[in-house]
Parts: sequence; structure tokens; C-alpha cells
Amino acid sequence: MSFDAFGDFRMDGQIAIVTGGAQNIGEAIAKTFSGAGAKVMIADLNGDKAEATAAAIQAETGNEVRGIECNVTLEKDIQRCVDETVKAFGGVSTLVNNVGWGRAYDDPLAVSEEDMIESYKLNTLSAMRMTAACRPYLLQAENATITNSGSLVGTIPAFDFIAYSAAKAALNHLMLGLAHYFAKEVRINTVLIGTVLTAGYAAAGLDEKAQYALAHPNNLTGRAGKPQDVANAFLWLASPAGSWVSGQTIQVSGGGTRIKLKPE
Ligand SMILES: NC(=O)c1ccc[n+]([C@@H]2O[C@H](COP(=O)([O-])OP(=O)(O)OC[C@H]3O[C@@H](n4cnc5c(N)ncnc54)[C@H](O)[C@@H]3O)[C@@H](O)[C@H]2O)c1
Repeated sequence: MSFDAFGDFRMDGQIAIVTGGAQNIGEAIAKTFSGAGAKVMIADLNGDKAEATAAAIQAETGNEVRGIECNVTLEKDIQRCVDETVKAFGGVSTLVNNVGWGRAYDDPLAVSEEDMIESYKLNTLSAMRMTAACRPYLLQAENATITNSGSLVGTIPAFDFIAYSAAKAALNHLMLGLAHYFAKEVRINTVLIGTVLTAGYAAAGLDEKAQYALAHPNNLTGRAGKPQDVANAFLWLASPAGSWVSGQTIQVSGGGTRIKLKPE
């Protein structure tokens, strides 16, 4: 009667940084880690929201959560975020590179060079920079992990989101390379996320048909994801429960696969 099936999913003693954790998927990850016992730093472009989300999570879980303003495309912000986390909690064991964003374009070949580079900076390079800044602390930590918010479109191309989809594909490869580099020292995995209905979609002014398509995407479960669906996978991968999993891209998408072709 003493076996605890959830024991390996505990995050006590772990110190996490969650980028883009002020809302939606990142918020759910921060809350889930905190609920499992981790200390969490929410790093977000919106510093006020990061602090408010942190306070709300701490009130619910009773574990220490802080928020900090941080633009993950700026090296000085990244360093400050890591320094503040170490000052507050004594280290970093668990990095979540969750920030990412993409926009649609009618013509994939008309995307400007600047937009391609900006997308790469936000979705790909930021994760590399965060990893570099956290490296000294990850190397000293027990159960050191990096888990990334990838996208289904990083493996099945979406020509209408070409800049985002190419940058997310690059994220998969970058993180696989780093998983090989760190090998036994840090486990690195990327979650390929499908359509998750967030407040952003609701506020986007979509018509009824578009809203229906989002809520009933072409996947095996027939429903869109919730932030918690994704956060549960992050908990598995970042906790000792995932200790035999590294260098993987794990699809959490309702089983969704859809190859999009140019309409006839
Ligand atoms: N929502 C989906 O359907 C979906 C699908 C596939 C993949 N994803 C990926 O999951 C992740 C989270 O998605 P979401 O829908 O929760 O995002 P979101 O846009 O709701 O939230 C992103 C958060 O990141 C912050 N942010 C934006 N730019 C930043 C920067 N430069 N530095 C620091 N913080 C910044 C924002 O302030 C916001 O709090 C992203 O990487 C996204 O690409 C989402």
C-alpha cells in the first residue's frame, strides 16, 4: 500500500524558468510545475502580467513563484533573468523554452527576409541563448532538463505559416543537436503542440466557421487542445518520471496530422 504512482512526477527541489509563462500554455506549465513542488520563475515580455500570474499561482499552490520582465530575443534580458532566478532560488534545473509566435501569409514566397529572420530569432535562437545562459546551473543540477514548445507545423509544413513553421522545424533540429551535446548531463525534449484554443484565438475576431474549424480540428480526438493537455506532457518530460526520455520530439496534438496544400 506504500507505492506512490505519482512520486516520480514530483518536482520538489527543482528550479524552473518558464519563458512566455504569463498566459495560456506557459502559464499552465508554470502552474503544473509549481503544483508538483518546483520553484518557478516566469519570464515574459509582459513583466506586470508575469508577476500577476506568478502571484496567482503561488496563492493556489503554496510554492514560491516569481515573475520577471524578459525579452528572450535580447541577451542582456536573458542574463538578467537567469541571474535573478539564481539569486532568488539558488540555481536552475529546469528550463522551458515556451516563447513562440507565428503569423499567416497569403504567399509563402512573398515573406520578407526580415520576417524570416525575426521568426528565427524568436522561435529558435531565443531557445539557444536561454540554454547557453542556464548551462552552468543545469550542469550542477539534479534531473536537469530543457523542454521546448515546438509545433506540429515544425514537422508537417504549413505553407501559410512558412516563417513560423521553418523556425519551429529548426528548433527541433537545434534541440536534438544540443541533446546529443549534453547527453548524460541534461535531457532535452521538444513537444510538438497541435491547435490549442487560447484567449488569443477568441479575441482574433474569427467568423463562426473559422471558430468551428479551430474547435473541431482535423485530428483523431476531434477536439482542440487545452493548455493543461500540453502542460501534462511537460510535467512528464521535465520530472524524474521522464528520466529515460531525451532527444525526442513528442507530438501532443490530439493525434493530428494534416498536410495542407494550396487550394485548387
Ligand atoms: N496555441 C497553439 O495552438 C499552439 C500550437 C502550436 C504551438 N504553440 C506554441 O506554444 C507556445 C505557447 O503558445 P501560446 O498560444 O500559449 O502563446 P501566447 O501567445 O498565448 O503566449 C505567449 C507568451 O509569450 C510572451 N512573449 C512573446 N514574445 C516574447 C518575448 N520576445 N520574450 C518573452 N516573452 C514573450 C507573451 O507576452 C505571452 O505571455 C509557443 O511557442 C507557440 O508557438 C502554440
